[in-house]
Amino acid sequence: MGAERKLEYPPVMTIDARAKQNSRSKQQVAEAAARLVDDGMLVGIGSGSTAEMFVQAIAARVTGGLRMRAVATSRRTEAMARSAGIELVELDGPLDLAIDGADAVDRRTLAAVKGLGGALTREKIVAAAARTFVLIVDTTKVVDRLADAYDRVPVPVEVLPFGWKMTARRLRDLGSPVVRERDGEPVTTDNGNLILDLYHPVESDPTRLAAAIDAITGVVEHGLFLDMASSAIVGSPDDAYSLDREH
Ligand code: 5RP
Repeated sequence: MGAERKLEYPPVMTIDARAKQNSRSKQQVAEAAARLVDDGMLVGIGSGSTAEMFVQAIAARVTGGLRMRAVATSRRTEAMARSAGIELVELDGPLDLAIDGADAVDRRTLAAVKGLGGALTREKIVAAAARTFVLIVDTTKVVDRLADAYDRVPVPVEVLPFGWKMTARRLRDLGSPVVRERDGEPVTTDNGNLILDLYHPVESDPTRLAAAIDAITGVVEHGLFLDMASSAIVGSPDDAYSLDREH
């Protein structure tokens, strides 16, 4: 038998190490986004783990004397912002700025898929009210074309509970809708609706897909955020950079 050969394995990142890296990346973008908030601004605050880090980052600035008011996109964000000392108001006019996470972002158009956290409808209302809408994501969310993400990211569709099985049947023409569940029970949104996650959409063009989903009665809103973000802050564990929308 020949000499024993030492096997060289490529370095494998543990799940813990990856989670720490992700969390550092999110922290980078949250802090960069908090620097966009000027004194006196009315700001929309998104939902999800990155947006929650943004809440902590602006709360620190508020403690340091920044005056700002905010509109929250979910009950969870609302509770967190309130307990962090951020003044919350009802949405009743244009916002200076809205900051939110995303599940996938097209690097050129900044078209995004959002809603894996289930807050897509309120998030879209708030984003649409903002003069400037900025996405905060880590590098893993950025893709060359939005359709490249469809393998791992479904397009969430919020639907009315009434007649949802019929709505799901109609969505089946566009892909594979799956009722979102938690602990074996259908997830109910803050608006009292259901979420159907549309896997493997048959239409790769986001504009055509969005129009086809919008045309289905019973759909409240979907997670395709097209022509909304003017920039994205993209974070890695060490720094953050900004992507502007190409026109
Ligand atoms: C919630 C969202 C979130 O912004 C999106 O799911 C990203 O979440 P995270 O920052 O936790 O990755 O759209 O509806």
